[in-house]
Amino acid sequence: MTALPAITPMPPRAPGRLPWIGSGVGLLRDPTAFFRTTRAALGDTFAVDAFGYRLFAVFSARGVQTLYGLAERDASFGLATYELVMKRKLPLELVVGRRNRPHDLFGGQEVEDYLEHLEEAVRAQIAELGPQGSCEVFALMRRLGHRLGLAAWAGREASSAPYLDPLIRHLDVLDQGDSFVRPLSALAVYATGKYRERRAMRGIESIIARILRERRSRGATPGDYLDRIEASFSDLPAGEREINVARDIMLIHMGAQSNLYAALAWTLINLLEHPAVLRRVLDGDDVLLEQCANESIRIAQRSITLRQVLRPIDFEDTGTTYALTPGVMITTMLPVNNTTAAPGLESFDPTHYHGRKLASHVRVPARELVSTFGHGRHSCPAQRFSISAIRISLRRLLERYAMEARFRTPTPLARQIGGVARASGRCVIAYRPRD
Ligand code: HEM
Repeated sequence: MTALPAITPMPPRAPGRLPWIGSGVGLLRDPTAFFRTTRAALGDTFAVDAFGYRLFAVFSARGVQTLYGLAERDASFGLATYELVMKRKLPLELVVGRRNRPHDLFGGQEVEDYLEHLEEAVRAQIAELGPQGSCEVFALMRRLGHRLGLAAWAGREASSAPYLDPLIRHLDVLDQGDSFVRPLSALAVYATGKYRERRAMRGIESIIARILRERRSRGATPGDYLDRIEASFSDLPAGEREINVARDIMLIHMGAQSNLYAALAWTLINLLEHPAVLRRVLDGDDVLLEQCANESIRIAQRSITLRQVLRPIDFEDTGTTYALTPGVMITTMLPVNNTTAAPGLESFDPTHYHGRKLASHVRVPARELVSTFGHGRHSCPAQRFSISAIRISLRRLLERYAMEARFRTPTPLARQIGGVARASGRCVIAYRPRD
């Protein structure tokens, strides 16, 4: 067994008796509880050895600030995410050669271009729901999330018949969310040589190629993101070009699905559970609606932030500087501080946010301790897009339907590590036309 990378001085280490697996069993069963109880026992800084990795976990204000301030060349966000989330799930050819990242799509003005696409996607979802019925909130929001994303970056054709359903089927196979919602499913992916994933990729590639061919035959150039992504590959020969357009779209879409639909679902659930807030939203308060979205994401966050040390670094924490060697994974798990960093944060209250920012009356030792979309250089490039998508979608749905919750206060899925929580049980609602 290879030696784990050194941390000097060595902080207390989370207990774990089995070699290689280390603390992994507790970590997989309920990661949030694992980090909470280990912190209560060992303090704000500790090491966790699991599955051949050494995690350096930090929860103090200083430690978390240092983590978010690290330069990519010293401790890599991209490599850590690839190593622990993507490598086991995604074929390498999907990840290399990408030219358009969400960062490139979400410049200021461009977000406004999306709004009409988002409205159209919600209209289509409402038409599909019909005047009344019942549905499961996370399933509904998952479908809506696909529609919103595809409409924004894969062209309006992709978010409607006949392409929407086959695209959803294939995209669900690729969903990296599986790696953190069902960590053991990663083993099955390994065992089958990513056969299902490669088949799904080919399915999406052929649909995107058809959409592009149809556009060309009609002489259509709507100037949307699909057009722009295609233009960025104009130096490649036909055939290769369409494949690369499709692969850019797959990666962008997978980034979106990790969080967006669950954020939509929790925001709706919290509104249904707080009728006084819902009434104000229905009276037209969009600022409050956005605050509800941020507050719902804060409470439902299950993200684990990771940075893989690339070269020896000195890491400043409260009162101690740790020497970290390459290979150490620096981490903090967001739900631990998100609900404890200041009094009152344990429960839902939209006034914790002022617009899209944590309100100044929330007295946290450091603003980095509370996170919805991350901090620093790797914070989410799709924050504005996502909050707009939630505002538009929920406003339209709530204006159209009176909804009745047929569930008891839902709880997050315990075994999830990463992203916004899925619920541990079904959350059914009944809906009918609003008077
Ligand atoms: C409510 C929805 C969303 C939430 C709560 C969310 C949350 C986050 C968080 C917390 C991070 C920082 C990760 C870290 O520091 O470890 C992040 C980064 C990122 N998010 Fe999001 N996200 C959302 C929607 C999206 C969407 C729609 C996309 C793509 C279209 C996206 C793409 C990304 C990417 C590419 C990064 C990495 C940035 C980098 O490499 O520097 N996210 N997101």
